[in-house]
Amino acid sequence: MRNIGRLLPMREHAGEVIENAAVRIESGTVAWLGHERDIKPAPDTPELDANGAVAVPGFVDPHTHLVWAGVRREEFVARLAGEQYDGGGIATTVAATRAASPDELFMLAVGRGRRMIANGTTTVEIKTGYGLTSADELKCLEVIGRLAAELPWGVQATYLGAHVVPPGRDRAEYVDEVIATIPAAAAAGATWVDVFCDEGVFTIDETRAILQAAKDAGFGTRLHAEEIAYTGAAKLAAEMGCASADHLEHVTAEGARAMAAAGVVGVLLPTVTLSLRTFAFGQYQVLRDAGVPLALSTDCNPGTSWCESMPYVVQLACLVYGMPVHEALWSATRGGAAALRLGDVGHLSVGARGDLALLDAEHEADVVARLGAPGCSATVVRGQVWPSPPMPRVNV
Ligand code: NIG
Ligand code: FE
Repeated sequence: MRNIGRLLPMREHAGEVIENAAVRIESGTVAWLGHERDIKPAPDTPELDANGAVAVPGFVDPHTHLVWAGVRREEFVARLAGEQYDGGGIATTVAATRAASPDELFMLAVGRGRRMIANGTTTVEIKTGYGLTSADELKCLEVIGRLAAELPWGVQATYLGAHVVPPGRDRAEYVDEVIATIPAAAAAGATWVDVFCDEGVFTIDETRAILQAAKDAGFGTRLHAEEIAYTGAAKLAAEMGCASADHLEHVTAEGARAMAAAGVVGVLLPTVTLSLRTFAFGQYQVLRDAGVPLALSTDCNPGTSWCESMPYVVQLACLVYGMPVHEALWSATRGGAAALRLGDVGHLSVGARGDLALLDAEHEADVVARLGAPGCSATVVRGQVWPSPPMPRVNV
């Protein structure tokens, strides 16, 4: 690809910019990058013109709940009128997801996935968590497997049987069922286990037991932590060696220091704070001061963040946290890769995957400053330009 006005490769540090750049991708992998004047001609290789745009590595979105059926508009409208979120609406989505066939769930999720790729996302983590019986959770993992096969992006599958205790179930029995399902989740393609460890959801002790079982079975672990209230979940993530602790609206300096010492990546989800209208935007400073490596994510889900756009998340992180633009773009690419412990995505270096997002701007700061703009003008996945999908009639 030639005529890149500003290339941000996210190699050693967030601020590296190559002006008037070009990238060569061979067999889906970056073979060369640098100043356009230095590129050697390659006859018979198709050339793309970036028209002077900004290019970043394809976004790595490390926290999504993409597989669901139904909508939660009554809950959203009630929040606009002042209702507080307590996770209770998850049961609405669980009922609709259980009632849906694998084909229906796939059709809904693949539309979301296509729009995410059009927004520049080329690697994504996808959780279960709206089935909440062994059979329904495994059905959702099967759908995640089909999403990985159907679309050209990279997919990491997470088993989140411990999203909430399903209505009508005994807690202790349900925790036992989650643990007993872990081997089947591995066989169905999951490599991560996540728990919603929060006030009114899973306790620290329940979470520890699930994470230990996951680790014993060879899974990587991650946590929904300190979202609704402070419970000490960030410290537990550090104790258990989780790859990431996500949300963190109520993290303390002590929790943040424990995360930094254990190398736990903090995944920030500014669209959730916006959608829940809690205005608890302050945790970025606490985490940054403690030296926690940070990632950004959409948390795409029907309850707290109906968002398919990483450029929007970057914009919001800058505007509400006061994150510097280059740091936000790093967190949306290299940071996401760190949260998923992936080395070959989130940066543009020789040997990395040939994934790029072209931002619809001549300078990266304009992507943040220009409100309501789409952000991403084209996505290159493994060296191929992603065709913008036609708009579906119903956008769910
Ligand atoms: O990441 N916090 C827990 N889980 C999701 C929301 C789930 C829902 O409300 O459907 C989240 O915010
Ligand atoms: Fe989530």
